[in-house]
Amino acid sequence: HKGKYEHYMQKEIHEQPESLTTTMRGRLIRGGSCKAKTVLLGGLKDHLKTIRRSRRIIFIGCGTSYNAALAARPILEELSGIPVTMEIASDLLDRQGPIYREDTAVFVSQSGETADTLNALEYALENGALCVGITNTVGSAIARKTHCGVHINAGAEIGVASTKAYTSQIVVMAMLALAIGGDAVSSQARREAIIESLFELPRALKVKEVALMHSEGILAGEMKHGPLALVDENLPIFVIATHDACFSKQQSVIQQLHARKGRLIVMCSKGDAASVTVGGSCRVIEVPQVEDCLQPVINIVPLQLLAYHLTVLRGFNVDQPRNLAKSVTTE
Ligand code: UD1
Ligand code: M6R
Repeated sequence: HKGKYEHYMQKEIHEQPESLTTTMRGRLIRGGSCKAKTVLLGGLKDHLKTIRRSRRIIFIGCGTSYNAALAARPILEELSGIPVTMEIASDLLDRQGPIYREDTAVFVSQSGETADTLNALEYALENGALCVGITNTVGSAIARKTHCGVHINAGAEIGVASTKAYTSQIVVMAMLALAIGGDAVSSQARREAIIESLFELPRALKVKEVALMHSEGILAGEMKHGPLALVDENLPIFVIATHDACFSKQQSVIQQLHARKGRLIVMCSKGDAASVTVGGSCRVIEVPQVEDCLQPVINIVPLQLLAYHLTVLRGFNVDQPRNLAKSVTTE
């Protein structure tokens, strides 16, 4: 039920502090002063040894679920030390890409019923890989056919555009990284900082209303390899420049965009507004800073609201975009 909201998408965006709390419930253990903070994923505990021994972890999914995996990839590589590759399910099948017994294949799907992802799962099972599911729907085909997995427990998502499932998927994959990383001493401080940041996340998510515009995602490093040619005083550009290892790179991109008179909206960490407005005027959205691997969970919220308001203003159906179905059960 939509309750006080006009649309499911709006409801689901605003629900994220609660859905993330449910995703993490019973799975994060803070411990006493001398007890280390840990993660417990019941569905994986008997399989962690096998996962740690695998030669490669392959994330497989479609659409938003694929993108959630893309956001989680760096932390999984960092904490597990295992190479992580990405596959769009249909592309893996079209190529008949190699999969081996020594691989762990992680299937990310909100519905658990997406045909392409399901077909890729059958393919990975035939090739002997350990198959892990990250699904929102208990009893779904992907949840049943994977060897093991984690339910994201975000609650039913009705809006076709994935919002709360996306953030819960990222959080589960961060917890997966922590679980695989185990108790290596070298990364203990990092793991504890992430767990602390996970506890804080629902509170940090109380970010609200923002602006309105359409965008195409481009990595900072790619700007000068083409997209810079499009920039003029008419092109609205949304720059994500929250504090992380790439911040100085983003600052120089902002300078270049200012120099070409781009119409910038810059998303930055609280307190960084002055440094991102050097060299030209722009709108700024400050967001709370969290542990870098969880920053995508925060940064997506203004973008979700942007998509929502833009769609509503243009008079389109936001819960059911034309030509799309919530769950794509045909190839
Ligand atoms: C489970 C219970 C939860 C209970 C908790 C108490 C279910 C669905 N979950 O949660 O109600 O509160 O124990 O300890 O009964 N799985 C897959 N593929 C997937 C997703 C999950 O194979 O894509 C498997 C898991 O390996 C596991 C089972 O399904 O065997 C349940 O997974 P999950 O709900 O994530 O486990 P818990 O969090 O332990
Ligand atoms: O149910 P799934 O996560 O497997 O669905 C995959 C995609 O169809 C889905 O993420 C789609 O991209 C979104 N609903 C669009 O926001």
